[in-house]
Amino acid sequence: MKSILNIGQSKLIFVENFILGTTYRSIDSLYKKDQGKVAFTAPSNIALVKYWGKRPVQLPENASLSFTLSECRTETSITYKRRKDKGVGFSIAFLFEGEPKLSFEPKIHTFFDRIAPYCLFLNDFEFIINSKNTFPHSSGIASSASGMSALAMCLVEIENELGGSLSAEERIEKASFLARLGSGSACRSIEGPITIWGKHQKIKGSSDEFAVPFEHEIASVFKNYQDTVLLIDKGEKQVSSTVGHNLMHGHPFAKTRFEQANANLDKLSSVLQNGDIAQFIEIVESEALTLHAMMMTSLPYFILMKPNTLEMINSIWNYRKETGVPVCFTLDAGANVHVLYPEKDKEAVLAFIEAELAEKCQNRQYICDYLGIGIKKM
Ligand code: DP6
Repeated sequence: MKSILNIGQSKLIFVENFILGTTYRSIDSLYKKDQGKVAFTAPSNIALVKYWGKRPVQLPENASLSFTLSECRTETSITYKRRKDKGVGFSIAFLFEGEPKLSFEPKIHTFFDRIAPYCLFLNDFEFIINSKNTFPHSSGIASSASGMSALAMCLVEIENELGGSLSAEERIEKASFLARLGSGSACRSIEGPITIWGKHQKIKGSSDEFAVPFEHEIASVFKNYQDTVLLIDKGEKQVSSTVGHNLMHGHPFAKTRFEQANANLDKLSSVLQNGDIAQFIEIVESEALTLHAMMMTSLPYFILMKPNTLEMINSIWNYRKETGVPVCFTLDAGANVHVLYPEKDKEAVLAFIEAELAEKCQNRQYICDYLGIGIKKM
């Protein structure tokens, strides 16, 4: 963590202060700029091995692995300006698609509070954050991963403009670290096409604090892998992820689940390299159903799948059996179904989706996405 605390010449002071846990010294005189603007676009990601269960602060109980997506993105810009009067608290205005969105501000303030020890400039500037998503409103697609990762990267870039001394690689790591403090899964959206978050014995460099890219060459069948998101329920989530994660404390199957996830990650790591698609399907579908099984067996228990979720899963299984096309599904903490398949089967699978699954989507809506490389400067 030392590396990502550095800013300009003051790095030693800050690292020391961090270790001692004392108040930070002002760095006013060191800023290279008084104002500026940065902008990044960050994608969503879909976990194949799921993160479900965390301990303070935002540390995962098991390692998770995800595909970084391309099309489902958040675009965020931040305009920053030196504050004349340094009042109490942060000065943040949040706009969503150009319009003030007051309901979001408490969330951003909580995020700023959490990351303040690692971003020492936050109190010295006023920020106008402008954000928009490329996917439809309330599509049930979580915007927290793309939103928090874009925001985190913007802040790291601002720190850099102000005189930070981190290398490009360290800035990426820091963005993932900060994004995690906003929303756990967000740390996996900074890079692509596959990232791993959570300390795992067999994954070199893996950490509970930030995500790392999958270090091996992936089999050609997984390159450009497709993810078509079938939008089933566009309503507000019944249970927030944070509440769901907390229900893993004292959950009767928690220990076994965390061990299973780590074992699945190990197996999946080999599969991604050797291209064994039958095993891929088995791990991915089992992970999705186990995630929902954890929700159904917690106290209180809940079911996020809808009747159409189950119908679609059955249709996918039938189609796979009849045609031999290696299509499979995964789920996140909601009713939507992510249909995963190799790029070479795109035409056939999209025809199947149009013919059999689209009618079960809300307003026939689905989103065609595929593997991507992560964050981009705008
Ligand atoms: C089911 O990252 O949304 O999508 O850390 O509380 O913000 P918080 O939770 P979040 O949880 C994601 C859970 C999941 C699985 C996954 O993405 O690994």
